[in-house]
Amino acid sequence: RYIRKKHYSANACLLPICCLYGAAVTTVEGVGSTETRVHPVQERLAKCHGSQCGFCSPGMVMSIYTLLRNYPEPTPEQMIAALAGNLCRCTGYRPILDACKTFCKVSSSDDRNTGLCPLVANSLPLLVFFLFKVSTSLFSIDEFQPLDPTQELIFPPELMRMAENQPKRTLFFHGERMTWISPVSLDELLDLKAAHPKAPLVVGNTGVGPEMKFRGVFHPVVIAPARIPDLNVVKYTEDGLTLGAACSLSVAKDVLTNAISEFPEEKTKVFCAVLKQLRTLGGEQIRNVASLGGNIISRKSTSDLNPVLAASNCVLSLASRGKKRRIPLSDIFAGVGNNTITPEEILVSVHIPHSRKGEYVCAFRQAPRRENALSITNAGMRVLFEEGTDIIKDLSIFYGGAASTTVCAKQTCSALTGRHWNEQTLDEACRLILKEIAVPGSASGEKVDYKKTLIISFFYRFFLEVLQSLKTTVNYFSMSAFDPYHYPGIPVEYGSVLQDFKTKMPQSIQIYQAKPDQSPQDPVGRPIMHQSGIKHATGEAVYIDDLPSVDGELFLAVVTSSRAHAKIVSIDTSEALKVPGVFDVISAHDVPATNEFYYSDDPEIVFVICVGQIVCAVVADSDVHAKQAAAKVKIEYEVLEPVILTIEEAIKHNSFFEPKRKLEQGNVDQAFETVDNIIEGEIHIGGQEHFYMETQSVLAVPKGEDKEMDVYVSTQHPAVIQEMVAASLGVPANRIMCHVKRVGGAFGGKLLKSGLLASVAAVAAKKTGRAVRFILSRGDDMLITGGRHPFIGKYKVGFMNDGRIRAVDVNYYINGGCTPDESVLVAAVSLLKMDNAYKIPNLRCWAYACKTNLPSNTAFRGFGFPQSALVTETWITEVADKTGLSPEKIREINMYKENEQTHFKQKLDPQNLIRCWNECMEKSAYYSRKKAANEFNKQNYWKKKGIAIVPLKFPFGLGTRYLSQASALVHIYTDGSVLLTHGGIEMGQGIHTKMIQVASRELNIPMSSIHFCETSTTTVPNACASAGSAGTDVNGMAVKDACQTLLKRLQPIINKNPKGTWNEWIKEAFEQSVSLSATGYFRGYNENMDWEKGEGQPFTYFLFGAACSEVEINCLTGDHKNLRTDIVMDIGCSINPAVDIGQIEGAFVQGIGLYTMEELKYSPEGVLYTRGPDQYKIPAVCDIPEQFSVSLLSSSQNPHAIYASKGIGEAGLFLGCSVFFALRDAVTSVRNERGLKTTFVLNSPLTAEQIRASCADDFTEMVTESWGGVCSSVSG
Ligand SMILES: Cc1cc2nc3c(=O)[nH]c(=O)nc-3n(C[C@H](O)[C@H](O)[C@H](O)COP(=O)(O)OP(=O)(O)OC[C@H]3O[C@@H](n4cnc5c(N)ncnc54)[C@H](O)[C@@H]3O)c2cc1C
Ligand code: FES
Repeated sequence: RYIRKKHYSANACLLPICCLYGAAVTTVEGVGSTETRVHPVQERLAKCHGSQCGFCSPGMVMSIYTLLRNYPEPTPEQMIAALAGNLCRCTGYRPILDACKTFCKVSSSDDRNTGLCPLVANSLPLLVFFLFKVSTSLFSIDEFQPLDPTQELIFPPELMRMAENQPKRTLFFHGERMTWISPVSLDELLDLKAAHPKAPLVVGNTGVGPEMKFRGVFHPVVIAPARIPDLNVVKYTEDGLTLGAACSLSVAKDVLTNAISEFPEEKTKVFCAVLKQLRTLGGEQIRNVASLGGNIISRKSTSDLNPVLAASNCVLSLASRGKKRRIPLSDIFAGVGNNTITPEEILVSVHIPHSRKGEYVCAFRQAPRRENALSITNAGMRVLFEEGTDIIKDLSIFYGGAASTTVCAKQTCSALTGRHWNEQTLDEACRLILKEIAVPGSASGEKVDYKKTLIISFFYRFFLEVLQSLKTTVNYFSMSAFDPYHYPGIPVEYGSVLQDFKTKMPQSIQIYQAKPDQSPQDPVGRPIMHQSGIKHATGEAVYIDDLPSVDGELFLAVVTSSRAHAKIVSIDTSEALKVPGVFDVISAHDVPATNEFYYSDDPEIVFVICVGQIVCAVVADSDVHAKQAAAKVKIEYEVLEPVILTIEEAIKHNSFFEPKRKLEQGNVDQAFETVDNIIEGEIHIGGQEHFYMETQSVLAVPKGEDKEMDVYVSTQHPAVIQEMVAASLGVPANRIMCHVKRVGGAFGGKLLKSGLLASVAAVAAKKTGRAVRFILSRGDDMLITGGRHPFIGKYKVGFMNDGRIRAVDVNYYINGGCTPDESVLVAAVSLLKMDNAYKIPNLRCWAYACKTNLPSNTAFRGFGFPQSALVTETWITEVADKTGLSPEKIREINMYKENEQTHFKQKLDPQNLIRCWNECMEKSAYYSRKKAANEFNKQNYWKKKGIAIVPLKFPFGLGTRYLSQASALVHIYTDGSVLLTHGGIEMGQGIHTKMIQVASRELNIPMSSIHFCETSTTTVPNACASAGSAGTDVNGMAVKDACQTLLKRLQPIINKNPKGTWNEWIKEAFEQSVSLSATGYFRGYNENMDWEKGEGQPFTYFLFGAACSEVEINCLTGDHKNLRTDIVMDIGCSINPAVDIGQIEGAFVQGIGLYTMEELKYSPEGVLYTRGPDQYKIPAVCDIPEQFSVSLLSSSQNPHAIYASKGIGEAGLFLGCSVFFALRDAVTSVRNERGLKTTFVLNSPLTAEQIRASCADDFTEMVTESWGGVCSSVSG
């Protein structure tokens, strides 16, 4: 194990230190650093713009680095597989994959240089490049150091010697509470297991680890059997393959891949089926450590291996002291014989048999995300036919995900034995399976009806696969059975469903305006790398939890309410205070002044209004102790009524935050009387978790005098942190210094919520007089901080038969949660932006912010627009359905066309909207691809394609002038170096990079002479939040102003010595006592809105865009694949095209998450179930379009913002809905073909479950009796 050197990536959070004995560990710091040498992986990730906030970058580097250590020239498939287990919330993965491609074997030189997709590139006339001077290159491969495997770290010789020379002996590690024992022989292991029957065997720790970490399970003794040779055996036998139970899933995968290439096809059907499951099981980091035995023995319902291994007659070799036995795995799940594994027994190995002649084996799975997600349902199926016939001799069907463990359809299998493999058998099989396999509803609200449909859909897929194989195999093997009439195979149009969707290395292109005439020194408009890119990739970038510990520092853990609406009867902290290392318990009583969260004079919190509300907090000497103690605080509640969780319940109880907002134009009621048609409907849009990679983090450090405190926070709004902390401590703001170096992603979630959390830490720091570190776990962050508002849009739309929309009456309801936060503002913005790209002559819209007992929802990229515009696009599509015109025609007919006014009387020039739309149509070859998709759909029954194009108008503005004011401070030191600061926060959007570009242009010095240190309330007071896409616009103006002031002061000196250098001028200025420090200021945009009149100028300018997306769906499972997306965006003159395209792509992929994947689930009592990456799925590498093109509209100017640019942070998110409507298009084609009703509603997120439900067929009908919940959303 150790002498054979192998590099593997692993998740640090799950890997027990004890199991690293004898291993060499390389972290990102060991790969390379700015102090030593930056590794090519780090360099290329940074230079290809693969980092934004940078929090995911070390993980990306380690995955790529590990692959390259094992395969210096990997294939694109290996590269894609290596990244399947890594998540990035910022970039949308495209630039990361561009960096990866530069290492891959098969990339063409073009592709390596530019990431240019040959398909797309070929379709671009060369003329375009010349005429509009566009560029398609965001980085240059010439700058990259070559990858030289001989320069890599070697395996430490001392460890090598240890592995070779030291006799293996049992290892014991004793901790504070636990003992870890690692035996080296099977006998020893059996003795240990007999002595400690309750002790788990830990190999990969991917099963035991999460239970101990998140579910409070504790094991005083752990046995680690990974070093025992018998458990690592890999042995080919006459009839199959034996794998030791401690073999990792990666080893199993490699061994099976080898075996498949070596054995005849007939013998490897089981291997192929198991391998298929292994490819998508977890990510590479999980498979590298998780063991085969662990997966089998855990008997989790979601095990992807147990169903296929059981169906395939795999045999387990078990051992206990003095006893060995072999049992078929199927016996355990089918309830046959002595089928329990006793606590003393261990699994030594697993025998996977060869398949036989006439035997067919398949495995299936459907998960919320195609890769790195536990299955919703999976299956393993095997059939053996009487020789040369289609008569079933032996049939096995096992399912996972249906019940609490793997289950067997035993009765079905025996009832079907002896039957022919035909339609009648299929029909009966489905009915029998549905009867036999009970799918109980689970506490976490799982999808019973969907699971039932999947169960029989999987069988149908198996039926088709076998039928297809029979066509060739039976005819081939048995001349007597040669009868094409009996074995006709499957209809051609069914064939494609036998192909699973695969993740391919995406091809992409990015087009932006080149700057050929600009001075080479001027960085504005060029794709400059993120200033912290290299530091992100080397792990040197410092986030809050990386800050060195402060002497005497304490750790804080919060105790949260477990009731949604209740009175607190008592809080018992006695047990918590007994936990070693606990310092104190902090409650509302300790808040010296204002308690911002609890609006009451009473110092005790008496009422809780949501699950997850912070009730008190524990401070201790370590994070572990603080969390252990927090879990011991006992709270008694008296439950109160009503508990309002949903929008519907809020409407029923008239529970709203005030004011409600309304906008109206034209005469709506009259218009409804004159229209040809009216539709009415509603759409539900689920919330969204920010899922910033860095959770909310604070370090509060009392300075020991004058009540001063340094507060380091991961926030978008230091000024509000300062204000809230000062208010809660009862000190003036000038005593609180808030510092932000960078933020690991925010997306709107680190505004007011961070203030609340910082206040908690500050109160604890004040009370204890110690520094307090407070880093929320992912689970607590998701539970406490809220997210995007769930939304209901109820609409009535009047239109003419020719597609002209004349009247719209719409009500929006957003679920604000338990405190106001910014909900009323979000509701108002959703009204102002609801028109998207359309002129609606008669319009009435209302927005209501519902007050419920959920954690308070807050700002999230797009701020209400992604929801209200989705409602608009939904009724646009419905108008298309009703008129028989295409959705794109309805969009074109109703789009703003000339200088017009919005529904609140703001002037609008839609010229660039129309240009974006036309260019997107052209670049995506919309009409020809639509035709091709229709053709595909005619030829494929179970797979369908869909395509949609959606326009975008995104108004830029914050509504009032004071919210867009900004300041900057620029110092020039006597050595000529410049220190720049401004009020903006770096959270991945590259603002500091852009500001340095601005200062570089203004001062006419290289970017390398300018440094940005941190954003702080001490250097720039009262800065507005970095939000609303406005950071670069407003801070850029302030930086420009400061630089111009300095330049003005320097000008006489420059004039006197025009040939002098910058350093000489600065020296001279100092000697002439010219101040080398200046502030810059921007007053903000003149924006206003009069809600009484329903008119105003709340926005300064508009961004425009369009996106065309194409998808393919699998009607049997509801799964889909994003095939291609083309985006055209008008963002004025980009200051940094790499950063801006990164924002567009990242937001777009976040939009795909919102509209198609990310689903928050609550219990009926208001407890959030989805509290981590296990349950809540954000897009991964497998979810981005296979072809992805982004073009920035050329020759666009914006007189209102710095250097004619436009603020781009949020707009792209909405374009993710082009995927939603492409899916709808595919579903429509299914429904048309099947004669189903053409009017139907799809809610967001449009998950596989909804897609499957909408593609009604015989299988859904069989489940119909209980179709319930989903069907209600599929109306009409
Ligand atoms: C992020 C993540 C994603 C995952 N995705 C998937 C997925 O998509 N599909 C899927 O099927 N699974 C998935 N899993 C589950 C994973 O495959 C299993 O947790 C893993 O295989 C268990 O192996 P282990 O070595 O880590 O087990 P450990 O945690 O080390 O042990 C698990 C249990 O097995 C017992 N055990 C282990 N070896 C033996 C033995 N030889 N004899 C007797 N008992 C033994 C232990 O006592 C313990 O109770 C995922 C897990 C994680 C953390
Ligand atoms: S850059 Fe990947 S999470 Fe921010």
